[in-house]
Amino acid sequence: MAKASPTVSAGMLLPARISIIVPCYNEAENVVPLVAALDAALEGERWEVIFVDDNSPDGTAERVSKVANNDPRVRVIKRVGRRGLSSAVIEGFLSSSAPYVAVMDGDLQHDETVLPKMLADLDAGSDIVVASRHVEGGDNAGLAGYWRHLLSDTGIRAAQSVLPHRLTDPMSGFFAMRRELFQAVLPKLSGTGFKILLDLAMSAPKSVKITEVPFVFRPRLAGESKLDVVVLLQFAMMILDKVTHGWLPSRFLAFALVGLVGVVVNVAVMQIARLGGMDFSQSQLVGTAVAILTNFLLNNRLTYHDRRLKGAKMWVGLIIFFAVCSLGAAANIGVARMVLHDVGHGHWDRASAAGAVVGVVWNYAVSSTLIWR
Ligand code: GDD
Ligand code: MN
Repeated sequence: MAKASPTVSAGMLLPARISIIVPCYNEAENVVPLVAALDAALEGERWEVIFVDDNSPDGTAERVSKVANNDPRVRVIKRVGRRGLSSAVIEGFLSSSAPYVAVMDGDLQHDETVLPKMLADLDAGSDIVVASRHVEGGDNAGLAGYWRHLLSDTGIRAAQSVLPHRLTDPMSGFFAMRRELFQAVLPKLSGTGFKILLDLAMSAPKSVKITEVPFVFRPRLAGESKLDVVVLLQFAMMILDKVTHGWLPSRFLAFALVGLVGVVVNVAVMQIARLGGMDFSQSQLVGTAVAILTNFLLNNRLTYHDRRLKGAKMWVGLIIFFAVCSLGAAANIGVARMVLHDVGHGHWDRASAAGAVVGVVWNYAVSSTLIWR
């Protein structure tokens, strides 16, 4: 006879108290050990785990399905044609009916043994419980290398500066919360990038009760990290979007950010060309051309990642982009001149700022309608 269990009554599985959402991409080696770890850590608790996989080529979803066939607490959502950690988490949340939801990584870097403590905090009235690497007893040991540490610490500071709540680890991808609160903030979420907790914390009312529990971030044993430059830029976009309260569309912010990168590239290439013996006009021409090319590639990869151009369409887009930017530069100079003489009272800085704004708005408007439609 089956032994008595708080999760089963009269042969029926009792509804879960907590849904653990696990975003995963290429984690085939990790998913089965994770279910076993949850089973051990949450003994006696009513839980379920929902893996949200973006059609990983390594067969992650199939591995989960195999486990799920023998264990009704395990489910998998397989998304096709989409990528993204935050949006995967949101869809996982939406598929849950449990009063509590948690998020944890699928690579065994998050210590599942702190889940019972998180549940206890929720029961005691917390709205969000964050597993933190930066409180007494926590540790960031699993983060590989000096640069990742520096990046992580800088990101934390940037995040803290825009957060209405005090959080020691706003970048943590390991937390639990009330599903009702999630439903309430859902319309405000940006849903891009890696930082779903930050997104939630920035959108949640000031009055919510957030507590922290320490955890030790473990090193990754199998598979590899998916954090890259695109993810970092998406992070910067999200912060800007929140700071401006969505008043400026994040696509425009990304476009402007890429434009700034272009300015740096322009100046750098120009200097190199001059050192190489070119005269001023020649080096300026080379610098500008390289900057436009860089901007096109960055916009294609980042600003318009969802409308990305490939093959022949990309070449046509590049040619139009060159034309658009040239007209933008002409408009920039024209407006700056006008401002300088008519309303700028001879102030160079105001004049060139006005020119730059007109230039970038023009480039953005035309690029959005003509190139990346
Ligand atoms: N569905 C889906 N789609 N899952 C994804 C995607 C995606 O596009 N990208 C990453 N994931 C999954 C990974 O498979 C893993 O389970 C989890 O999200 C975290 O991704 P990692 O690639 O392992 O990230 P990390 O270890 O570099 O970053 C972790 O630490 C950060 C703090 O330093 C994450 O926990 C971050 O959320 C955390 O902020
Ligand atoms: Mn990881």
